[in-house]
Amino acid sequence: MRTDQPQTIYLSEYKVPAYLVEQIELRFELFEDGARVHSTLTVRRNPESQETGKPLELDGDSLKLESVALNGETLESTAYEDRGDKLVVPDVPEQFQLAVVTWIEPQNNTRLEGLYKSSGMFCTQCEAEGFRCITYYPDRPDVMARFRTRIEADKSAYPVLLSNGNPVEQGDLDNGRHFVTWEDPFPKPSYLFALVAGDLVEKRDSFTTCSGRDIDLRMYVEPRNSEKCDFAMDSLKRAMRWDEEVYGREYDLDIFMIVAVDDFNMGAMENKGLNIFNSSCVLASQETATDAIFQRIEAIVAHEYFHNWSGNRVTCRDWFQLSLKEGFTVFRDAQFSADEGSPTVKRIEDATLLRTAQFAEDAGPMAHPVRPASYIEIGNFYTLTIYEKGEEVVRMIHNLLGSEMFRKGSDLYFERHDGQAVTTDDFVKAMEDASGRDLTQFRLWYEQAGTPVLNVEDDFDAEQGVYRLTIRQTVPDTPGQTNKKPQHIPFALGLLDSNGDALPLNMDAAETDAPTERVLEITGAEHRFEFYGLDEKPVPSLLRDFSAPVRVHYPWAREQLLFLMSHDPDGFNRWDAGQRLAIDVIQSLIGHDDETEIEPRLVESYRGLLNNDSLDQALVAKMLQLPSENYLVELSEQADVPSIHHARERVLLHLANALRDDLLACYQRNNQAGEYELTSDAIARRSLKNIALGWLLHIGDEEALALATEQFQNADNMTDRLGALRALVNSGFDQERTEALDAFYEQFQHDPQVVEMWFSVQSASHKTGQLPHIRHLLGHEAFDWKNPNKVRSVVGAFAGQNLPAFHNPDGSGYEFLAEVICRLDDSNPQIAARLVTPLSRWKKFAPTYSEQMKKALESIRDKEALSKDVYEVVHKSLA
Ligand code: ARG
Ligand code: ZN
Repeated sequence: MRTDQPQTIYLSEYKVPAYLVEQIELRFELFEDGARVHSTLTVRRNPESQETGKPLELDGDSLKLESVALNGETLESTAYEDRGDKLVVPDVPEQFQLAVVTWIEPQNNTRLEGLYKSSGMFCTQCEAEGFRCITYYPDRPDVMARFRTRIEADKSAYPVLLSNGNPVEQGDLDNGRHFVTWEDPFPKPSYLFALVAGDLVEKRDSFTTCSGRDIDLRMYVEPRNSEKCDFAMDSLKRAMRWDEEVYGREYDLDIFMIVAVDDFNMGAMENKGLNIFNSSCVLASQETATDAIFQRIEAIVAHEYFHNWSGNRVTCRDWFQLSLKEGFTVFRDAQFSADEGSPTVKRIEDATLLRTAQFAEDAGPMAHPVRPASYIEIGNFYTLTIYEKGEEVVRMIHNLLGSEMFRKGSDLYFERHDGQAVTTDDFVKAMEDASGRDLTQFRLWYEQAGTPVLNVEDDFDAEQGVYRLTIRQTVPDTPGQTNKKPQHIPFALGLLDSNGDALPLNMDAAETDAPTERVLEITGAEHRFEFYGLDEKPVPSLLRDFSAPVRVHYPWAREQLLFLMSHDPDGFNRWDAGQRLAIDVIQSLIGHDDETEIEPRLVESYRGLLNNDSLDQALVAKMLQLPSENYLVELSEQADVPSIHHARERVLLHLANALRDDLLACYQRNNQAGEYELTSDAIARRSLKNIALGWLLHIGDEEALALATEQFQNADNMTDRLGALRALVNSGFDQERTEALDAFYEQFQHDPQVVEMWFSVQSASHKTGQLPHIRHLLGHEAFDWKNPNKVRSVVGAFAGQNLPAFHNPDGSGYEFLAEVICRLDDSNPQIAARLVTPLSRWKKFAPTYSEQMKKALESIRDKEALSKDVYEVVHKSLA
């Protein structure tokens, strides 16, 4: 057990830096047994700091200090204090140069923060606080310096040497070594620093900007991946064009580089001019990547590129402002993906993630505002709340202001704050100033944690022809926050008559010709809205396009949901009505015996969907998917996973049996030969086909088995091959499952990204993902504890997606996860801390489960030398 208490950092204690760094000159000597880092800082006192006479304090982590020199004079070790995590130099003048030499061991860096090695190459990850693992430095984003970086390494092992900016010098050195010097003209915080050294192939392309500048685009990958770069490169060019057209943002350096590395804690990183990606988020080919992966790559490439403005040119003052860059950039990449594909489907996917995982986070022990007020380990705050709820907050501003004003606001924001490190408040202020709108109350979205709940009631006055909506809002208590204020919520609404026609929303008796959709603004605890001139009670379509990240409660009747499923002009709400109906049906079966009737109208509505050719097929594919077990857990009070699983399974089997012929026809109709295309229609067809296949195999259909086997063997793309594999794995056909899994591994064992899919298909499956098999996978030759993707694809998929196996009533799943977390905590605390999430939700589950989950958390708490990453999550979970 950890006896010291890691320190909490508070936003309220923010102080401007006492010293600023104008320039940093780095020289890296890279060797097999370590690296020597020479850093020379040009420093001056910050005139804005009140702390005159304060010693210079530099951050450090796991560094071996070799020497310190002030203005060229080597300092005696008594002239400074090496506290390990801080280097303190007490007597420094107003302006000076400080030269520090440190020795680090990238080859032993398993945390993957700072400089480390990944399959033979050197690479870095400095956000949030990795730079301090490289050298002593004021490692905070409001210290922005110009970087000049010289890299020296063996020329044959590391022919490619990269850093931020432009290459300005290169040459050979003695002993078969060489060097390259890079200079980045844009001052930047240390978290945007990057270095790569390796034996990599270079893929080149170019882009001409709106002002006619030619940009060199380069991707660097290991030779075996050279055929998996085209899609990312194409996505990059589309993102560059889009940002010019939609936000007026032009790229600012002459080179833009992307590097793929296999060992990476997160998805990717927006280092200035040198984005580094997790291989799984950038490398793809038709044969090895699914449609979902292609879409993820497009989004992440765009996301990192967009950060060049929203993050790099304008950066964060401190890490409490993380959502300033992440929320805004996720919003930008979501707009881009919507423009490139199906906007409705993109919205459905984002809302699903938000409602399933972010709502759960917001209701759990780690709940925090979009702008947190405190943290112990910032690495724990790269959360769904910062990213996805942060996105929703920016989207609400967009919806309140309209596209044109929003663009004015973003122009003002970039112009006003270019080259600065700023706050979420500065962002909102720019939006206010450009639009003239008062966003005072709206700012509560950044300050209050918890998902607001809207309770909606209605009544119809037939005599007056008036329909009344009463909307009450509450914001639930969260750890450390009670008695919250009402928030400013944009609530998009429409009303339908019994023919399914949109009704004009007359909000005073005299109004005629009113619009058929309005965005109501909820600002108080209770509102009443009246709609005039109606002949009958309308069906309300509430929170269209998911106009705010809130829960809506309304006493839906099943007829109303069925009606909206087929009539709502808002695609999102059509889908949502189907989800609500399915949830209602599944929930009504939980705890009842298997004789209980399953709503017959559900089957008929699904039959209608399966045979509807006129609807957007991408929407149909989404509508056919039942709500996930995770979402059903999130919606319940004291979740009993086996009962939820059983009820959902009953509905699935029932639908599949009843719709067997329709599913087969759907499969055949969408199983078209021809070129593999990534259009939204082609993606929808593959999705429909594979859903149908999955359902049919679920009910043991022999004809479908033959189709699946043939598709598995002959598919010309990974979407279909994996679709067939997944269907086989989740079926009762034991022999075919084993044969397919073996053949798949045999064929793709040399491709880590595909092996990761192979792991997660098994780990997430109710059929194969039982604990003994999970342990078997951990011993597999392709499994590697040091590789985060492998850990995620086996352990993450098991604990996060395979709910019935993880929540085994004997508690073995929890004990297993605790054991894994303790093991990983010693090598990679960031990954270990992320894996705690499924256990942190223990209070959500029925007592037999929650007690054992709590015990597992306590066993982690009692581990020796717990990292502060895991400490924070475990202690907050148990509080
Ligand atoms: N800024 C990156 C992104 O969102 C995330 C990197 C965070 N990395 C980390 N190890 N905390 O694109
Ligand atoms: Zn980001």
